[in-house]
Amino acid sequence: MPAPAMRAVRYDRYGPPDVLEVRALPRPVPQAGQVLVRVDAGSVNAVDAKVRSGALRLLTGRSFPRGVGADFAGTITEVGPGGDPDLPGRPVWGALDPLAGGATDEYLAVGPDAYALAPAGLDPVAAAALPTVGVTAVLAVEAVRLEPGRRVLVVGASGGVGNAAAQLAAAAGARVATVSGRANLDFCREHGAADAYAHEDLDGLRAERFDAVIDTHGTDLRAYRRLLRPGGRMATVAAKGAGAALVSVLTPGPRIGLVQAKATRVRLERLADLVERGDLRPAVERVYAMEELAEAHRDIATGHSRGKRVVRIGA
Ligand SMILES: NC(=O)c1ccc[n+]([C@@H]2O[C@H](COP(=O)([O-])OP(=O)(O)OC[C@H]3O[C@@H](n4cnc5c(N)ncnc54)[C@H](OP(=O)(O)O)[C@@H]3O)[C@@H](O)[C@H]2O)c1
Repeated sequence: MPAPAMRAVRYDRYGPPDVLEVRALPRPVPQAGQVLVRVDAGSVNAVDAKVRSGALRLLTGRSFPRGVGADFAGTITEVGPGGDPDLPGRPVWGALDPLAGGATDEYLAVGPDAYALAPAGLDPVAAAALPTVGVTAVLAVEAVRLEPGRRVLVVGASGGVGNAAAQLAAAAGARVATVSGRANLDFCREHGAADAYAHEDLDGLRAERFDAVIDTHGTDLRAYRRLLRPGGRMATVAAKGAGAALVSVLTPGPRIGLVQAKATRVRLERLADLVERGDLRPAVERVYAMEELAEAHRDIATGHSRGKRVVRIGA
């Protein structure tokens, strides 16, 4: 009997967003240790567009067709041989390796480290917005070792990672200042910022001093580092910031830590706890249909965001 079909996004060559196509493919079959997830929503990360464009081809290779996306939320429908029969029906969230992609498929067969139970009470569109950026934000906040009452600056706080980091820092009792586009100052204030600055005009920021800086944009890192008080800590999650992070290790002054996050089961479970405690709420900028994924890739490539772009998977 042929495997049941599913809808999935694939592309046959690196290129502009228009290379993305919705196709009918056979559903995967879960192997031992895997579960089959019916995906209801996925979200778009900046790296998805970079992979699709071919900018990372040295890492991603030349094997086509390729799937797209890392973050997903949905429901377990089947378990592999010997799997827990209680799992079907449970809502889950997770993230695939972003360099491999495939999360915008209607069905995914995933191993235990790629998913966890989704936070209670969160619908799949909201849940899909968080796995990668939420885990990254948790690690970034940990990297600067925030304590209650300390002042932290979050750069790029209207974006996926920065928005989550600002919320988590505020929930940890820090006084949060943010840098975002001028159009997003109120959005940042609604998501943890006590003070909000616009990257179009940073004059007001220069006299300020912080105990920690969390950067998600990767530019002007030396200037942001000068805003640290003695003993202050700084981390960036942006690959663009890797050079400045390396130089900071080799030169006097505070080091800039480079945070690289992988969404493991343990981290996803911890993230779910933070959502259930009310420390973090997903911010969804726009929901796209599967057929609109190319548009979502064009939008993320602008480098400007107000939360996350989410794709509804399925018909
Ligand atoms: N290390 C990891 O494991 C990891 C994980 C996830 C993401 N990342 C990386 O982290 C970075 C941020 O990801 P994201 O998903 O949060 O991106 P995003 O949602 O696209 O957000 C980008 C942010 O940068 C801000 N921005 C634009 N121009 C700026 C400028 N000149 N100065 C300061 N901020 C500026 C934007 O503000 P406005 O829109 O308000 O202008 C927006 O808040 C990306 O490079 C991504 O690849 C790394």
